[in-house]
Amino acid sequence: MGRRSPARWWRCAVLLLALALAVADGRFVVEKNSLRVTSPAALRGVYECAIGNFGMPQYGGTMHGVVVYPKANTKGCKPFSDSGLSFNPKSGGLPVFLLVDRGDCYFTTKGWNAQTAGAAAVLVADDRAEPLITMDTPESAGKEHLENITVPSALVSKRFGDDLKAALENGDMVNVLLDWRESLPHPDERVEYEFWTNSNDECGAKCDMQMNFVRNFRGVAQVLEQRGYTQFAPHYITWYCPEAFVLSKQCTSQCINHGRYCAPDPEQDFTTGYDGKDVVVQNLIQICLFKVANESRKPWLWWDYVHDFAIRCPMKEKKYTRDCANGVIKSLGMDIDKINKCVGDPDADEDNPVLKAEQDAQIGHGSRGDVTILPTFVVNNRQYRGKLDKRAVLRAICSGFEETTEPDICLTQDIQTNQCLENNGGCWLDHNSNNFTACKDTFRGRVCECPIVNGVKFVGDGYTHCEASGVGRCQINNGGCWKETRNGKSVSACSNEVAKGCKCPPGFKGDGIHSCEDIDECKERLFCQCKGCSCENTWGSYECGCGGNNMLYMREHDTCISKVASSSVGWGFLWVVFFGLGFAGVGAYAVYKYRLRSYMDSEIRAIMAQYMPLENQDTSSHQRPVEHADI
Ligand SMILES: *[C@@H]1O[C@H](CO)[C@@H](O)[C@H](O)[C@H]1NC(C)=O
Ligand SMILES: *[C@@H]1O[C@H](CO)[C@@H](O)[C@H](O)[C@H]1NC(C)=O
Ligand SMILES: *[C@@H]1O[C@H](CO)[C@@H](O)[C@H](O)[C@H]1NC(C)=O
Repeated sequence: MGRRSPARWWRCAVLLLALALAVADGRFVVEKNSLRVTSPAALRGVYECAIGNFGMPQYGGTMHGVVVYPKANTKGCKPFSDSGLSFNPKSGGLPVFLLVDRGDCYFTTKGWNAQTAGAAAVLVADDRAEPLITMDTPESAGKEHLENITVPSALVSKRFGDDLKAALENGDMVNVLLDWRESLPHPDERVEYEFWTNSNDECGAKCDMQMNFVRNFRGVAQVLEQRGYTQFAPHYITWYCPEAFVLSKQCTSQCINHGRYCAPDPEQDFTTGYDGKDVVVQNLIQICLFKVANESRKPWLWWDYVHDFAIRCPMKEKKYTRDCANGVIKSLGMDIDKINKCVGDPDADEDNPVLKAEQDAQIGHGSRGDVTILPTFVVNNRQYRGKLDKRAVLRAICSGFEETTEPDICLTQDIQTNQCLENNGGCWLDHNSNNFTACKDTFRGRVCECPIVNGVKFVGDGYTHCEASGVGRCQINNGGCWKETRNGKSVSACSNEVAKGCKCPPGFKGDGIHSCEDIDECKERLFCQCKGCSCENTWGSYECGCGGNNMLYMREHDTCISKVASSSVGWGFLWVVFFGLGFAGVGAYAVYKYRLRSYMDSEIRAIMAQYMPLENQDTSSHQRPVEHADI
């Protein structure tokens, strides 16, 4: 720790520059869609525009609209509501494509302001004469809009922008058709796509968005892959450390295999947390996992791994270790040795064939161009532009099928993944009794969540552990606790009085989960240690007999007392005896009186019966309360 010297700062700067240069010799491709002007006649024709890397382009589709250029706030940097403007189309009217000028603020801010004002799309007119560029998302600021921009965006050239403005100035109505139908090649009935990603989860909004995307898209990706509609591959970008810096502190902490494969420090601070090389190793594990999964014809397991890894071993929560990653791999039932073999030795001074292939793939071959933005989707060898959103990306993939060969999923969202059927989806399963499971099939792929059974909630991580908790927990599989019945006597280590856990009942010892053993009170000399006493152990208890016939064993006090009152016996006991005798006396008297009364009763009845007929002796005895005899 401690403050970094200026010299170290300088070295950092040089290193970053060098890393940047190492990838700068490639080519970035601006992905385009077309814009057809249908009126005015003077402008009629097809123009190119560049798809922005935010919002939702309508791959495979088209969109009609009228162009509006605001009189004030022409750059769209301020909310249009400030000046009371709304671009919501009137009923029956065409959607509004808002034209704004480039400059002064982020593209995403313009997009957000246009969207909130009701525009259906935003067209940004370049402010300089140059080839079209891709409008990208800002690394940090403006991110609060990123998630929620749904309008498609496109950059148009300065010249075309000027023409549009002139026509509008002239009072013309400008009708356009935005067309994404040819934005992606769609040659056959299988779509090949790549997802260029990174295991670093500490980069803030962008990383969170990437994880959200994985979570949402996983189910769809898996179904497409399982049914053979797509062939997917994940990819990871790494850099190499320039020769001169290989032994520097920076390269040794950011790189593996002696400077061959590097990633930036996740926190951008060399002194704390994880290093770049931790990210590279995890990237490598993820590629290797995909390779092994693909070899066993289950490439979709990659999505589960990445999803579960983010939950169980996130770097931003400092939970990532190789062991944690191995735990995820194991729960997916994958061959860990194969994966480790592919990962190899990160400290070795040699190429890693897998990462080398990744570096080669990064450079675009043919039409794709270099991948330099993370994350990036490549569909049919063309880079996807737009928001990383399930619907938008699925739409792009769907537009990559030859027409009429699209899978159902492109037409309906109604899918189930049925992943719990196999290996229980890698989630917790109660093998012992009822097959309670934490695996749930959902539209978005399976999730591992502890279940609620008959109103009893299970708690735990859902992967390796779930446990019934709260009221009624003992009704479910006895709360996971030990339970045994012998000779009609049941004993349980679960108590509804306590919220969780198992505890052997009195007279037993053990963990309460797997076993409780009877305590031999006699052998362990816990009770019944009086002189001359005979102790006999029973299951869960014991019997104690006092020496001599006149002695009585008092269980609560673990002591023997004489049956005959003596000074050693407390008055309390004498009272008990006294009252006992008293009650017995009263009882005996009552019985005597009752019998006397019944006797007299029957005598009188017998005499009376001689003088008058009694209807029914039984009924009459019924009508009389029993107590009657006592008087
Ligand atoms: C984005 O949308 C979500 C859901 O509609 C909402 O909860 C969130 O507040 C929105 N964020 C912004 C910055 O508008
Ligand atoms: C995955 O496996 C398929 C066939 O088993 C193969 O054609 C494809 O090239 C593999 N993908 C990768 C990226 O290795
Ligand atoms: C649990 O599932 C297994 C395998 O499907 C089955 O053999 C067993 O009978 C099930 N047990 C119960 C209690 O349902």
